[in-house]
Amino acid sequence: MIVSRGDRVWKLEFGEAKPVVRFEFKEQQRFSSENKLEILGETLEFRATHEGCVFFKPLGLREHILGLGEKAYPIERKRTRCVMWNTDSYGYGWESDPLYVSIPFFISVNKDAKGFFVNSCSKLTFDIGVGEYDRIVVSSPEDWMEVYIFEGPRISDVVERFCELVGKPFLPPKWFFGHQISRYSYFPQNTVLELVEEHKKEGIPVDVLYLDIDYMDGYRLFTWDKSRFPDPKSLVQKLHQMGVKVVTILDPGIKLDQNYEVFKKFLGFYVENCDSTIYTGRVWPGMCVFPDFFNPKARELWSKTVEEWVREYDLDGVWLDMNEPSVFNESKSFSEDAVHTLGNGKKVSHVFVHNAYALYEAMATFEGVKRVKEGFVLTRSGYAGIQRFAAVWSGDNTSSWENMRLQLPLLLSLSLSGVPFVGCDVGGFIGRSDPELVARFYEMCCLLPLFRNHKDKKANDQEAYNLPSRYKEMVKRAISLRLSLLPYIYSLAYQASKRGHPVIRPLAYEFQDDENCYQINDEYMLGPSLLVAPILEKGAQKREVYLPRGTWLDWWTEDEQQGEAWVTATQELPLFLRKGSILPTEQKIVVYGSSSFLLYQDKEVELRSEENALYSSQPLEASVEFKKANAKRAKVDENVVGCENGKIEKVRFTRIILL
Ligand code: NOJ
Repeated sequence: MIVSRGDRVWKLEFGEAKPVVRFEFKEQQRFSSENKLEILGETLEFRATHEGCVFFKPLGLREHILGLGEKAYPIERKRTRCVMWNTDSYGYGWESDPLYVSIPFFISVNKDAKGFFVNSCSKLTFDIGVGEYDRIVVSSPEDWMEVYIFEGPRISDVVERFCELVGKPFLPPKWFFGHQISRYSYFPQNTVLELVEEHKKEGIPVDVLYLDIDYMDGYRLFTWDKSRFPDPKSLVQKLHQMGVKVVTILDPGIKLDQNYEVFKKFLGFYVENCDSTIYTGRVWPGMCVFPDFFNPKARELWSKTVEEWVREYDLDGVWLDMNEPSVFNESKSFSEDAVHTLGNGKKVSHVFVHNAYALYEAMATFEGVKRVKEGFVLTRSGYAGIQRFAAVWSGDNTSSWENMRLQLPLLLSLSLSGVPFVGCDVGGFIGRSDPELVARFYEMCCLLPLFRNHKDKKANDQEAYNLPSRYKEMVKRAISLRLSLLPYIYSLAYQASKRGHPVIRPLAYEFQDDENCYQINDEYMLGPSLLVAPILEKGAQKREVYLPRGTWLDWWTEDEQQGEAWVTATQELPLFLRKGSILPTEQKIVVYGSSSFLLYQDKEVELRSEENALYSSQPLEASVEFKKANAKRAKVDENVVGCENGKIEKVRFTRIILL
């Protein structure tokens, strides 16, 4: 096998590696080796088998395994067996596997962290200490493997190096971080407008609205049902005037209909059968054909079609669904021997590239949107690197307490796997949601990067304006907390786009040496500063919260708490600010202890607090609030007058970077 060494990243190639998704790797050194070799203090081994090949890595008793993308397991992935096969998983629950997204990347933490990425889009299995107690066994149905190893020592270093290889996240526009509403499906046109009005009447802001499949004419992509939407342009225009952005759904299946322009347009660029006829499968529109997104020419045609669609109706984003790809048949997807054509003209069987179909679809869609405006793409399925093109939501969750509790570990692990812009259907997609559940869902999700209420057709209305007053008020408070923290959230998003660091983080990401943190699946960090501990039990009015080492300020009462400790929190949404934080909010900049923070508005601004002075590179309108600080007088520098009585008088320009 071949070993290549880059800058704190290694690449191991066993057999003749033929990855479909190729990543650029800056190689500094290259040598051949035995199939058993020692790297970073561990003996790794590859072996050919009758079914393909396997990769072995030792698994220590004190070792933690994190990552592996979207999986319905706790954050600690040890003692699980995960399959990588993108699957339409309607109504999944704890331990359902596989789900919609496959990211064959994990982080091992044994004091120091390192990462392993097996770059293959076929059906890999990760057995993390189940079949063999002291080993991780990764099996591939192919006779080669390409494995990347990322050095730490911090978890954040590993995530950053992984993103350097597979791609940095795109930066969504600011409005993406607002309150989003969706339903399967809102129509007709006037009702859509009324819906927004109803929210506004109740003082509930709506920033983004989604149109699900029923806006289309017989589920034909890039068309409108004219009886439901007689004038889509004016609808979008009116929504824009109300401050609401509009996103429409697109599925990959194109209706097999000889009289349908889009069907004719993509002829020659469809996924095929092995006898070169066009592959067909049944989805919403009936019999469908599917663009072959592996073919760059098909991608270009799709980008152009999306571009025209977004431009013509002044849409703000595209929502990609059913792209595992999902087909209504026994295997739930394309037949394994369906044929794709790659850029170099080579043909490849679906079974070897299955997990990358959505990645290439998202790539082409993102390109189309980008040509018109700074919008975004939301996808259900994906592979390593999907963050370059899209945000991800966790598909068809259910309206249950159990399922709500599953969402945090699932989304936090996806975040650790390079995908920062994640969220779930707030309120739950499937089944009846009682108002208390919806309110608690809102609280849990109000500080997630994607914040969208979405609901199935045959279930109750769960829009916030519909809730009984008690729960409506809870939801309104959650939304307003979210909106007040947007400057912080958007700055974290910017930093994610630069370095891949997640916006929401498991506690272990910030407190790598704290063993307790690996077992905590119901709390999360929003960036480095805020610990969020939502109440996730029916009927509960309080909960136990684990606070890691350090000093913490209860966001609501301003009581200081010393970690490490378990505390009983009785607030509606327990929230703690970590000492050593600067937290920009809409109303004020909160300074708690001395620290620094990179604020992103349109420019980068470095905020730095020292001896209770706060410096900024541009005049900040907001007032500054020092938490638990004795002095309110600031240090005076050459051309600086810092803060007095919590107000910025003048500011020194420390650093300004125009992008
Ligand atoms: C499945 C998606 O997961 C769901 O969000 C959507 O509403 C339906 N398809 C209909 O498009």
